[in-house]
Amino acid sequence: MSTEESPSRAAEAGRKIIITIDGPAGAGKSTVARHLARHFGLLNLETGAMYRAFALKALRTELPLDESSSLEKLAAETAISLEPGEGDNRVLLDGEDVTGLLRNQIVTDGASRVSVFPAIRAWMVRLQQQLGAMGGVVMEGRDIGTVVFPHAEVKIFLDAAPEVRGQRRYDQLGLKGSIPEVQPEEVIQDLRARDQRDRNRADSPLRAAPDAVILDSTNMTLEEVVQAAEDIVEAKLKPASNTLVR
Ligand code: DC
Repeated sequence: MSTEESPSRAAEAGRKIIITIDGPAGAGKSTVARHLARHFGLLNLETGAMYRAFALKALRTELPLDESSSLEKLAAETAISLEPGEGDNRVLLDGEDVTGLLRNQIVTDGASRVSVFPAIRAWMVRLQQQLGAMGGVVMEGRDIGTVVFPHAEVKIFLDAAPEVRGQRRYDQLGLKGSIPEVQPEEVIQDLRARDQRDRNRADSPLRAAPDAVILDSTNMTLEEVVQAAEDIVEAKLKPASNTLVR
């Protein structure tokens, strides 16, 4: 799709839209992406799961996560695919379904580490561009609106204060009363460390695309965020119906 295409033109021509959702961990991207995919009948693609799957492989292989050239070699012999639906994605690592193995703290931390390397990012970006090439997708991550699909019709950058994101994560993970008990401050600290790496890496750091709509959910409930995101998409698509009516 060319840069000149407006959402209305894409819709008139019967092409399917691409919605990108970027932002830091715990901002509510997955919830919003799942909702938008269901609401607008699109596929939901979670790119973080791909970095997580690769981190799992590196951990299993016991490769140091800071050795770019070894990781690059490993990537050359790794197959990662996402099987998207409107909800959660199934993640296949060399044909093995690893969906249930990707959300623990070690893999989470590993994904943030392996994702700083340009060769790993270039590989992932290629895979993601192939996955979304036909449109009709909501793709969430850190660099989707800036690098993977810079010409997407709708871009949302979802943000929130680290304390709020950390508390949401803590609640989602059901850590209250866990043994040994984890404090919300520990989750917030992990999140800050990841933010630091994601925002400051040299290659495609986390940042909003110039044409993204920024949604700060610090003082919003997740229901309000979801509604606001839906409104953003509706507003972007509106010119299409106006044009058709005229
Ligand atoms: O969205 P997530 O928490 O599942 O992502 C895990 C890590 O993967 C995150 O710390 C940064 C990295 N990531 C990335 O660099 N680019 C993306 N498009 C998606 C994730």
